[in-house]
Amino acid sequence: MSDQLFYKYDVPVPRYTSYPTVPYWNDSPTTEEWVTSLNRAFQKPSPWSLYLHIPFCESLCTYCGCNTSITRNHKREEPYIEMVLNEFRSYLKQVPGIRQSPLQQFHFGGGTPTFLSPENLQYLAKQIMQELNVAENFHGSIEVDPRKTNKDHLQLLRDIGFSRVSLGVQDFDPEVQRLVNRVQPFDMTKKITDQSRELGYTSVNFDLIYGLPTQTESSIMDMMEKTWLLKPDRIALYSLAVVPWIKPAQRLFKDEDLPKGKDKRRLYEISRRFLIDKGYVEIGMDHFALPDDSLSVSDRNSELHRNFMGYVEERTQVLLGLGVSAISETPDCFHQNEKALPVYERRVTAGEIPTLRGHKLTSQDQARREQILNFMTRGEVVFEDAGQKQQVSEFLKEMLADELVEVTDDKLVLTKKGKPFLRNACMALDERLLAKKPESEIFSKSM
Ligand SMILES: C[S@@+](CC[C@H](N)C(=O)[O-])C[C@H]1O[C@@H](n2cnc3c(N)ncnc32)[C@H](O)[C@@H]1O
Ligand code: SF4
Repeated sequence: MSDQLFYKYDVPVPRYTSYPTVPYWNDSPTTEEWVTSLNRAFQKPSPWSLYLHIPFCESLCTYCGCNTSITRNHKREEPYIEMVLNEFRSYLKQVPGIRQSPLQQFHFGGGTPTFLSPENLQYLAKQIMQELNVAENFHGSIEVDPRKTNKDHLQLLRDIGFSRVSLGVQDFDPEVQRLVNRVQPFDMTKKITDQSRELGYTSVNFDLIYGLPTQTESSIMDMMEKTWLLKPDRIALYSLAVVPWIKPAQRLFKDEDLPKGKDKRRLYEISRRFLIDKGYVEIGMDHFALPDDSLSVSDRNSELHRNFMGYVEERTQVLLGLGVSAISETPDCFHQNEKALPVYERRVTAGEIPTLRGHKLTSQDQARREQILNFMTRGEVVFEDAGQKQQVSEFLKEMLADELVEVTDDKLVLTKKGKPFLRNACMALDERLLAKKPESEIFSKSM
């Protein structure tokens, strides 16, 4: 593909894990309004998803964009667990429908969930699951850092029905690892991959990043070859989000070490080509899965969904986030917990639901959310009316000319060539962004 296209469309764009995107949330619910929204969503029992955030990491990877709290003090485990359980109990009290609705997905994210001891991790999951109606086809998943994971973590979660695991890998190259303060030998990643499989985890994911300091075309080929030796069922291949204004540790990179523009894009192209040649299916954006993995099956059945956790294989009306900074959503509201750990702790201890911010979706937001979801998961969307068709065609006239999208009678369709530019095209449906362009940089670049 022409390098010029990558130059042309390498602009700051949202990742569209929500609509409106977080910087455009402008109508926060009060805690009472949030609880009302949840009660509305749980009026009739329907499957739902739970996300639980463990913020702790023992050391900081300098590229990291996640919400973390760096500590080696494991005495913090139990108080945090009790805090999250308090938050959970507040929800049970105020939203009785939670107990009736089948829990479909339970995801541990972070930070590093395996910062907790295996016993503490299992205790936390069990305390929650025993209060709930766990669906028969329940999926439990966890993000693990192979440097901080042992077989007991995997075993104890497997014992209570967890079946998916996502390994933070990023890159296998020792020099890249040194530069980002994350030394993780290949054998360590192999060991956790093998153990997960032996224990019966049915889906093993690797998180990889392109755009890290000193990565080159040959180092990325090596990363792909090593990945292929272990054949993860899924791969998330993220573009390094460079946001030093939010994450100052990223200023520790030497600017000249960071692959940029067409060089960075080439790294993606090489990896993508490698994975497709090996038989991986490209899912939406940045994700790949082996054809028999449930994410590929869901893609084939047009059941793919996208939320704050990225691409997931099925849609639920409610995603409830527990823990510091966790984000939740219902059909008509987004909600985020306090991001500062001491404030989260204080509020939860006082029996509060620790609302930081959120957004009450207007009916127009809800309609646009559906459109953006359709476009991000299926690569096409039906226009609302002739006015929208005209507006979108005008906004995307360059992408139309470059054959990255097509406009039919009633639809916007992403072409095969346009796949790497999915987020760019999505902006044409983002009414809030079109109405008010950001004055400063708030999104990472698309490539
Ligand atoms: C919470 S971490 C994964 C679990 C665990 N903490 C670990 O690192 O192994 C989530 C993932 O986000 C991705 N990530 C973090 N910072 C990023 C950034 N600045 N740009 C792109 N991806 C990033 C990494 O691939 C990372 O594995
Ligand atoms: S990448 Fe994972 S381990 Fe590293 S700082 Fe971020 S959350 Fe922690």
